[in-house]
Amino acid sequence: MINLTSVDLKTVKTETLIIPVCEDKTIHDNQAISLLIKKAKQLKEFTGKKDDEVVFYDLEEIKAKRVMFLGLGELEKIDAETLRAFAGRAVKKCMKINLPEALLAVPCGKNMKIEIASVLEAMMEGAFLGNHVFDKYKKEKKIKPLEKIELLVKPDEAKKYSGLPARISTVCAGTILAREWVSTPSNDKRPEQFTKSIVTLAGKEKLKVSVLNEKELKQKKFGAMLAVGAGSNSKARMVVLEYSPKNAKNTIALVGKGVTFDSGGINLKPSGSLEDMKIDMSGAAAVAATLITVAKLKLNVKVVGVIPIVENMPSGSASRPGDVVKSYNGKTVEIGNTDAEGRLILIDALSFCIKKYKPHTIIDIATLTGACVVALGEKIAGVFSFDDGLAKAIELSGKKTHERCWQLPMPDDYKELLKSDLADIKNISNSRWGGAITGALFLAEFAGDARWAHIDIAGPAYIKKEDEYCGAGGTGFGVRLFCDLLDKL
Ligand code: BES
Ligand code: ZN
Ligand code: ZN
Repeated sequence: MINLTSVDLKTVKTETLIIPVCEDKTIHDNQAISLLIKKAKQLKEFTGKKDDEVVFYDLEEIKAKRVMFLGLGELEKIDAETLRAFAGRAVKKCMKINLPEALLAVPCGKNMKIEIASVLEAMMEGAFLGNHVFDKYKKEKKIKPLEKIELLVKPDEAKKYSGLPARISTVCAGTILAREWVSTPSNDKRPEQFTKSIVTLAGKEKLKVSVLNEKELKQKKFGAMLAVGAGSNSKARMVVLEYSPKNAKNTIALVGKGVTFDSGGINLKPSGSLEDMKIDMSGAAAVAATLITVAKLKLNVKVVGVIPIVENMPSGSASRPGDVVKSYNGKTVEIGNTDAEGRLILIDALSFCIKKYKPHTIIDIATLTGACVVALGEKIAGVFSFDDGLAKAIELSGKKTHERCWQLPMPDDYKELLKSDLADIKNISNSRWGGAITGALFLAEFAGDARWAHIDIAGPAYIKKEDEYCGAGGTGFGVRLFCDLLDKL
């Protein structure tokens, strides 16, 4: 639980007070804290440099059992992400020594260039997200999340921002839900199971939930999606979540790639590329968790989430390279490579969503291409859209939430690369290069005239090593991004 508090440091009894310290300037106008920092900085080993840390015990000045000082570095470089990381780091340190609670001092005063609301948001996000362990699969649960986290602010701020902890906690709980779905191994989230999990959780909120099973998908001719699911004995599903507040007009649609395991299919991936492919439903996780969160937040915008769920497996019933399938909108697709499966399920989901809901804006999110990771690395998502305004809005939300997004081009002449001799289009490019772009161009062919954007999260969907406010595994990338964006669109 996270809260704001404005206790007096001289009288408060707290086990652990944690103070962020700037290297070159003061970032606290609380006198008691300033004096404590002065004391810490008398030590040679602590200057407030980034990652510096020192702990004092049983100080006379204050009732706290321990006071932990964590360096933030130079004032110039401190931004919201520095504060998120600080709070995450602080909470993780307490967790690792089994403490039940922590009190974090909030930086303030004339040197702090970030406005207080953003400071509080960032610190709460870092603290909430850092305070999570996914130990469902461990017999011995060694690390426990803190029971209580408090942020120390001035009395008027505690009052003014009293609604903030609930909102931030709701959004971050959405991120954690997505993280856990992504981190869950593929044997525990095969299409039926993953569908059930989404339906159960979405059913608890004010969402309309519907599921198309394999029979219905066949009847309705979702040919591209069915071709991907054909090799698995856990059959394909399309999950649709609708959030419709009374007076909202425009519908925003989110579409998420839900491949619960991507073996590559008959174009089987090699060892080394297979091991992480449980994360290939990260787009689906982001969309489902966003809808659940949006319903909890009671946002005043209509949102529909369309989530195609399949397992991409090789078997006697799997699709073959060279097969031609008819997609939901009638266009035929030559399957040049069964490992380019994400785009096959997405085109059916996109055309279905556009036909049924006629959304004002439609955004898909997918772990679509390794090429996007080559282009932008593991921490930045690629954004593609013919609507520069929409791409900009996504980039801006990315900046705000630090779920970073970068627009990449969709040049008209590259469409050439998707030509098929046999069918209307091919699911892979005739060139080795620019795979993230040709992936996006393939999707674009099925977005019609809709105001559409595609976000490729193959890089940032998961991390191999824990960082300041995320454990190793799924990152939940997309949930905070969408919650910010939907509020603005
Ligand atoms: N799921 C993968 C993309 C991926 C790669 C996600 C690495 C996360 C990390 C996708 O289905 C895929 O296999 N894409 C192929 C496309 C190619 C066959 C045109 C790729 O990127 O190599
Ligand atoms: Zn693939
Ligand atoms: Zn895939």
